[in-house]
Amino acid sequence: MLNVVILAAGLGKRMKSDLPKVLHTLAGRPMLSHVLDSALQLDPARITVVVGHGAERVRAAYEGWPDLCFALQQPQQGTGHAVQQAVPQLLEGDADDVTLVLYGDVPLVQADTLKRLLAARGQGVAVLTEILDDAAGYGRIVRDAGGKVLRIVEHKDADAAELAIREVNTGMLAAPTARLKDWLSRIDNNNAQGEYYLTDIIGLAVDDSVPVQVAHPAAAWETLGVNSRAQQVQLERAWQREQARRQLEAGVTLADSERFDVRGSLICGRDVFIDVGCVFEGLVELGDGVHVGPYSVLRNMTIASGTRIEAYSHLDDARVGRDARIGPYARLRPGTTLADGVHIGNFVEVKNSVVGKDSKANHLAYVGDADVGERVNVGAGTITCNYDGANKWRTIIEDDVFIGSDSQLVAPVRVGRGATLGAGTTLTRDAPPDQLTVSRARQSSIEGWTRPVKKK
Ligand code: UD1
Ligand code: CA
Repeated sequence: MLNVVILAAGLGKRMKSDLPKVLHTLAGRPMLSHVLDSALQLDPARITVVVGHGAERVRAAYEGWPDLCFALQQPQQGTGHAVQQAVPQLLEGDADDVTLVLYGDVPLVQADTLKRLLAARGQGVAVLTEILDDAAGYGRIVRDAGGKVLRIVEHKDADAAELAIREVNTGMLAAPTARLKDWLSRIDNNNAQGEYYLTDIIGLAVDDSVPVQVAHPAAAWETLGVNSRAQQVQLERAWQREQARRQLEAGVTLADSERFDVRGSLICGRDVFIDVGCVFEGLVELGDGVHVGPYSVLRNMTIASGTRIEAYSHLDDARVGRDARIGPYARLRPGTTLADGVHIGNFVEVKNSVVGKDSKANHLAYVGDADVGERVNVGAGTITCNYDGANKWRTIIEDDVFIGSDSQLVAPVRVGRGATLGAGTTLTRDAPPDQLTVSRARQSSIEGWTRPVKKK
C-alpha cells in the first residue's frame, strides 16, 4: 500500500508574495498540481499534503480533489517534523506498505523516476540522490569505504571531509511505513538548525539493519526546487525546453524551440508546423499537417488535419474541422464548432456558434450564438446582434445564404436557405429562402444640388 506525503508547509519567503509558494505556477498550473500529477500516476492509496503557511488557501485550491488529505504543520520545525504531522493519515494494511515523500516546491519530478525510486527500495529505504559539481546547501550522502550508505549529513552540520562529498540528497525518499513512523518518533533536533531532520531516518535505518539504496533522476530539472521568482522562471524554461524536445522527437516542426510554450497538454499528429511565440493552454489537439502561424494562443482546442491557423489568432475552447483557414487575427470563443473547409478571416470573432462546411466569414465580423449552414458567405462587417441587453438570442443562417457586407442580424432571426441579404441590411424579421432581402433606404440622387460654400 503506497502513501505519498507532499511537504508544502514552507513559507517561501524569497517569492515575496502573498500567495503560498506551492500555488505559484509552472507552465500555467500550481507547482503542487504538477507533483500531484506525478504522484497520481503511481496509483497511491492516499496522498497527504502537509500544509502550514497559507494552509487555508492551499486547501481551498484543492477542494473537490478526490482522495486528497491534508495535515497541518504549525509551527514548522523541519522536514522530519513535517512528515510526522502526516503520520496519523498514513494507511497500512499489507506487506508492501511504503511511504514516498515528495515536495510541493519541487514540481517536475516525473513518475518514471519515482517508479525507479520505489523499485530500488526492495523492502528497505531508497533515497533519490544526485552527483553535483556544486553541492553547496544540500544534505550529503555519507557512505562507508565499501560504498554502503551510512547517513545523510546536512550542509550546516557537515565537517570538511563531508562537505567534499558530491553526492547529494534531493529530499525525495521512500521508506517502509511502519518503520518510518518509528524512526520519526526517534529523531531529535540537536543539530545546527535546531530542526527535526527527515534525513536523520537514514542513520536510524542503518542502525536497524534496514538496507538503504539510492536512485537517480533521469533529468537534472526533475529535482530542482523553486524558492525564488528567478528559480521559477529558470525551471519554467527548462520545462518548456523539455516539452519542445518531446514534440520535436514526435515529429513536430517548431520554428524555434526557445519560443514555444505549452501550459497543459499538446497532442500533435504528423507533420504539424508551429511558428514562433505560440502559447498552448489546457488540452490542445492538432491533426496531421496542421500549421499554426506565429504568436497564436490556443486554449482547449481541437483542430482537424490540414487546417491553417494564421498569425496572431486567439482560439479558445472550440473545434475546427479539416482544411479550414483561420486568421490572421481571428478569435474563436467557447462553444464554437467550425466544420471542414471553413474560412474565418482577420478580425472575425465567432462565439458559441456552429458553422457548416465551406462557409466563410473573411473580414471584420461578429458571429455569436448562431447556427450557420454550409456554403454561407458572411460579408465584411456583418454582426449578429445576439444580445438585447438582458438575454442572448440565436441567429439561424441556412445553407447557401449570401449576407451582404455591413448587415446586422437582430436575433432571434432566421435567414432561409439560399437567401441573399443586400449590403447594409438590418434584419429584424426572418428572411425568406431564395429571395433578396434588403432593408436599407433606396438610393436617390438630387439633380442640381450644390455644395454649400463658406461665407466670406
Ligand atoms: C532539505 C534536506 C536536504 C536536501 C534538500 C534538497 C532535510 C533536513 N534536508 O534541505 O538534505 O539536500 O532539502 O533541497 O530534509 N518543509 C516543511 N516543513 C518544515 C520544513 C520544510 O513543509 O518544517 C518543506 C519546505 O516547504 C520545502 C521542503 O520541506 O518544500 C524542504 O525544506 P527546506 O527547508 O528547503 O529544506 P533544505 O534545508 O533545503
Ligand atoms: Ca530547499
